[in-house]
Amino acid sequence: MTQPRTFDIGSEEAWDATLNPERVFFTLNQSAQSEIRTFFNTQPVFDNLTSIKPIETIEVQRNELLECTAEADRLEGQLTSGVRMAIVRPVDDLSFEQQLAVPWVLGSLLGDLLAQNKAGDRAYIITDQGGKMEQGARYSQTNQGGSFHTDGVNLKSGYDYFLLSCIAPAAEGGENILLNGFTVFDALQKSSPESLGLLSRELVWEYKGIYKDKFYREPIVKIQAGELIWRYLRNYIEEAAHKTGELLSEETITAMDRLDAVMDTPDIQFRYTLKPGETAIINDKQIFHGRTSFHDAIDAVSLEDFLRSNDRTQTIKRTYSRFWINKQNGVEPRPN
Ligand SMILES: [Fe+2]
Repeated sequence: MTQPRTFDIGSEEAWDATLNPERVFFTLNQSAQSEIRTFFNTQPVFDNLTSIKPIETIEVQRNELLECTAEADRLEGQLTSGVRMAIVRPVDDLSFEQQLAVPWVLGSLLGDLLAQNKAGDRAYIITDQGGKMEQGARYSQTNQGGSFHTDGVNLKSGYDYFLLSCIAPAAEGGENILLNGFTVFDALQKSSPESLGLLSRELVWEYKGIYKDKFYREPIVKIQAGELIWRYLRNYIEEAAHKTGELLSEETITAMDRLDAVMDTPDIQFRYTLKPGETAIINDKQIFHGRTSFHDAIDAVSLEDFLRSNDRTQTIKRTYSRFWINKQNGVEPRPN
């Protein structure tokens, strides 16, 4: 990495804050939407649904959903070239419960859905549980903002794509922020090329929340088979260093400061607040994401309480569902 880059960044789309949102939005065509409605109407799982977990029982076969598969392939083109992300608009005329399962269908058509915790949940809920990262909570269970990162830090294989679907927005804040890995790389190469060399050294990472007290090694940035690959969640790096006693060098800390400073530049941040039913699908190795901090309404209820209640006028706390997708690596086995 201290050598001149081996790929042509000029051929990649290094977008910034001026990116036209219309290039990011993705609307499933009418045939695919109609196919999903018909498919969901045959699924008994939506009757008396009280949590997101049962949607994992929906079996999605590419050869049974041909229209959706064609759209998933079109979507994948947007993830692997061009803007590297998409915001999929809600499917029309679905019930609240059915809309919850749209990202499950899209994720299943894109690859293997990975377990995200020790319980093996593949549909994972992001909501404020009242914890703080400083006390060891997972970022996804807090209302904290900042900390631009990739999600693929909990497994050595990383994740090819991740899906973030808005079930309910916050009363205040919780804006989604996306950053282009090529733009970040380019900015760092111009402002602090030595930092790129330092960030390409291997660090220790934890299989946090997946395998207890298990660690692996990977760099923050690498170029593999001509592809730029980022892996970054600073709080987890610091925690893994602390847990293993492999302290970070001053120069590594400085390099991460430089990376954070680049990502804190508003003119490279694409900002958007997802609306209910919208699903962001992101190339996790080339796009960073984060959010602003948020607050829920004082009387907001959990998704589970909302589903159990007959009162559909209640406000739900900020709730997103998340799905991690690997195309080829599948599920990484527990390390020895
Ligand atoms: Fe994340």
